[in-house]
Amino acid sequence: MSDELKKGLDGVVVAESSLSDIDGDRGILCYRGYPIEDLAAEASYEEVLYLLWNEELPTETQLQAFEDELREARAVRPGIYDQLRLLADSGERPISALRSSISMLSAEDPGTDASPGDQDAARHMGMRISAKFPTVLAAFDRLRRGKEPVEPRTDLSLAANFLYMLTGSEPDPMHAEIFDKALTLHADHGLNASTFTAMVVGSTLADVYNSVTAAVAALSGPLHGGANQEVMKALLEIDDGPLNATEWTEDLLDAGERIPGWGHRVYNVRDPRAVILEAELERLSERTEDCHWLEYLRDIETHLTEEVGLPERGVAPNVDFFSGAIYYQLGIPVDMFTAIFAMSRSTGWIGHVLEYQQDNKLIRPRGHYVGPEMREFVPIEER
Ligand code: COA
Repeated sequence: MSDELKKGLDGVVVAESSLSDIDGDRGILCYRGYPIEDLAAEASYEEVLYLLWNEELPTETQLQAFEDELREARAVRPGIYDQLRLLADSGERPISALRSSISMLSAEDPGTDASPGDQDAARHMGMRISAKFPTVLAAFDRLRRGKEPVEPRTDLSLAANFLYMLTGSEPDPMHAEIFDKALTLHADHGLNASTFTAMVVGSTLADVYNSVTAAVAALSGPLHGGANQEVMKALLEIDDGPLNATEWTEDLLDAGERIPGWGHRVYNVRDPRAVILEAELERLSERTEDCHWLEYLRDIETHLTEEVGLPERGVAPNVDFFSGAIYYQLGIPVDMFTAIFAMSRSTGWIGHVLEYQQDNKLIRPRGHYVGPEMREFVPIEER
C-alpha cells in the first residue's frame, strides 16, 4: 500500500470506465469511442444519452422506445411546483433549487424501494431524473420571475421542450438544435469532481437520486461549474462599461486574475468542445444578426494569443468560453448556466454510477494522519 500523498487525487486512477476518453495534448474527446465532433454533428442528445447508458448507439426502434419513455416521464406532480415556489420565494440559486428538487422527486418515485444495486431500477430512476430535470429547472425560473410553470410537451425533443417551458413559446428549430448540441458536449467528461462524487455515493449502493443530488452539490462550487457565467458577466461588463474587450482583458491580467473560459486541467490545447461551440455561436449570431458577443470573445482571444502568448503556455479557450454567449442569446438567464450544465452532465453522472455498480467496490481512500501522538485524556474540570 503506497503512502504517497496525491493532493486532490491528482493523477490517481480510481476506476476503469468506457464512457468517455480525453486526450488533453491533442484536444480529443470521445464518448464510447465516437469523436465528440461526429456526435455533435450527427446525433441528438437523446441518442448520446442512450449511448452513454447502453454502450452502443441505438437503432431507430430502440431510440423511439427510449424517447417515448423519456417524454412520458417529463411531467411532475403539482406538489413539486408548490415546493419550487417556496424555493423561488426564498431567493434560492437555480443550482441549489435543482439540488433540492432532485431530493423532492425521489419521494414520488416508487423505484427507490428497489433492492440496492438493482440495475434496472437504477436505469429507470435515471430516466425519470433526466426527463424531469428540464421541467423543474424551467418551472423554477418562471416561478421566480412571477410566472406560472409551462407544462412539458411530449412532441418536442428534450432540448426544444426545455426552451419551450422556459420561455413559453416554441423555439426556432435552429435554436433548439444548437442547444441540443451544447447538451451533448457537456454530457460527460471523465472523472471530474461531480462525476466522482456521484460514483462515491453510488459505491455505497445508495440510489441514483442520492448520487445525483450529491453530484449537483459538487457542481455548485465555483471551482467546478460556473466559468461560463463568469464569461458572460465579463461580456456584459464590456458591453456596459468604458473598457473595450482588449482593455478589459489587460486590466484583469494586471490585477493578477485569470481569464474565465481559458485554461483546463486536462487540455493543453484548445478544448475540442470550444471549437464546436465557437462555430455554433457564429451560426447563431448570424441568425440573430447580433455578432457583437462573438466579436468581444474574438478580441479577448486575439489579445491573449498575440500579445500575452497564453496558448504557447498550454492555456487555451475551454468549453465555457463560448457556451455563455450561446445560452444568453437563447434567452437563458445567466445565473441558470451552471444548472444547465448539471442538467446535461446528469447523463454522465448516471452512466458512471450504472457502470461502477456493475462491479461495485465501496470507495474508501485513506488519509495521512498528521495530528498529535497518542496522549492521555484530560477530564474537563482539569483542562
Ligand atoms: N487566465 C490567465 N492565465 C492563466 C489562466 C487563465 N484562465 N489559466 C492558467 N493561466 C496561467 C497560470 O497563471 C499559470 O501561469 P504561471 O505559469 O505564470 O504561474 C499558467 O497559465 C499555467 O496554469 P496552471 O495553474 O498550471 O493551470 P491549471 O491547470 O492548474 O488550472 C484552471 C486550470 C482551469 C483552474 C485555470 O486555467 C483557470 O483558473 N481557468 C479559469 C477558470 C475556468 O475557465 N474554469 C473552467 C475550466 S473548464
